[in-house]
Amino acid sequence: MQKTIILGVCGGIAAYKSAELARLLVKSNINVQVVMTDAAKKFITPLTFQAITNNKVLTNEHFWTTNANETMEHIHVSRNADLILIAPATANFIAKINQGICDDLLTNICAARNCNLVICPAMNTYMYMNPPNLRNIEQLKNDGVTFVGPETGDQACGETGLGRLTEPQDILIDLNRYLSNSKLKDLKILISAGATSENIDDARIITNRSSGKMGISIANEAFDLGAEVTLIKGKTEVLPHKGIKIIEANNHEEMEQNVLNEASNHDIFISVAAVSDYKADHVFQGKIKKDQNVLNLKLIKTSDILKSTKKLFPNLFCVGFAAESNNLINYAKQKLVEKNLDMIIANELQKTMGEDQAEVVILDKKQEKILPKMEKKLLANSILTEIYDRFKTNEN
Ligand SMILES: Cc1cc2nc3c(=O)[nH]c(=O)nc-3n(C[C@H](O)[C@H](O)[C@H](O)COP(=O)(O)O)c2cc1C
Repeated sequence: MQKTIILGVCGGIAAYKSAELARLLVKSNINVQVVMTDAAKKFITPLTFQAITNNKVLTNEHFWTTNANETMEHIHVSRNADLILIAPATANFIAKINQGICDDLLTNICAARNCNLVICPAMNTYMYMNPPNLRNIEQLKNDGVTFVGPETGDQACGETGLGRLTEPQDILIDLNRYLSNSKLKDLKILISAGATSENIDDARIITNRSSGKMGISIANEAFDLGAEVTLIKGKTEVLPHKGIKIIEANNHEEMEQNVLNEASNHDIFISVAAVSDYKADHVFQGKIKKDQNVLNLKLIKTSDILKSTKKLFPNLFCVGFAAESNNLINYAKQKLVEKNLDMIIANELQKTMGEDQAEVVILDKKQEKILPKMEKKLLANSILTEIYDRFKTNEN
């Protein structure tokens, strides 16, 4: 069924960006009902939004209307909406709704809502950092209102800092979470992704060829499906979605520390990172000179993060990845048992590493299931469905 969003536009410079946001929402097959404050109309005309959304734009004239068909708009409008999105939200608007002030159509609609409210602030950085504004935002967050942004960068006023409106395409990514009827909504998922690297000396490292594509795809998909996602991120060029909590981990030790610190706050741990299995016994200070024909490096085995996590947190649903160059299913089964995992995803190293597509076999203690070759984004979705089904069965 088509979703409906109320797009509230306030009187800030970034109001022109709402037109692009409205266009992207319409393109995503969302019915957009724009509501403008009086100040917003000084920056952009209702006609622009009407042309983009194909809907009549609501303004304060409709609040004080004498037209019998349009009375009580402030209540009726949100009854048909799946979400109210305010972009840009001014400091003035944020202050008003935090105080429960209802002096125009948009503040009334927000006060009388029966759906989620998402606010995208945009203002001068000093205005944003103004203590009353920060207090208002904090209070609204405590009341269950969601904030997207603001971002840091150059501002229309010539200053630089925190206060820019989040770019429309990024707002859209965030919205998917609230619009999807996802089963992952109440889940906290911890994911490790990317490659780690271990120092040999101050200039050289041992690392691996993992691109991080699979792990980040799973993190992004889980986030889009509504989960609260924490990503322990090794080296990768792939960008996680805004809104995912990211903790950087460059080497095995940082990866282990961060996973163990976060594990108790999560329901599921999906270990996708390609963590170094060995590290230098001794890290040289400075740079090793090139004066020997043969250089022997002594490597020592690192600990198994996934295994120790499951041991320390037996109630955490733990999913491993097994990338093997041969004997795929047997090795994956061994790992499943040895690490006491709830599920393992096996894939052939040569066919997967760095590629945009992959084929995997999913194994748990009872069954094996092949997920045929597909784009990693689609695969991430299927993998999360498999994880969710098993997680729910375990819970019951
Ligand atoms: C040129 C100009 C630009 C403004 N830009 C912003 C802005 O980006 N963010 C903001 O919070 N207020 C901004 N303001 C102030 C708001 O327009 C003012 O607080 C207004 O009362 C907001 O009304 P509203 O919240 O009902 O839309 C700006 C004012 C002017 C004159």
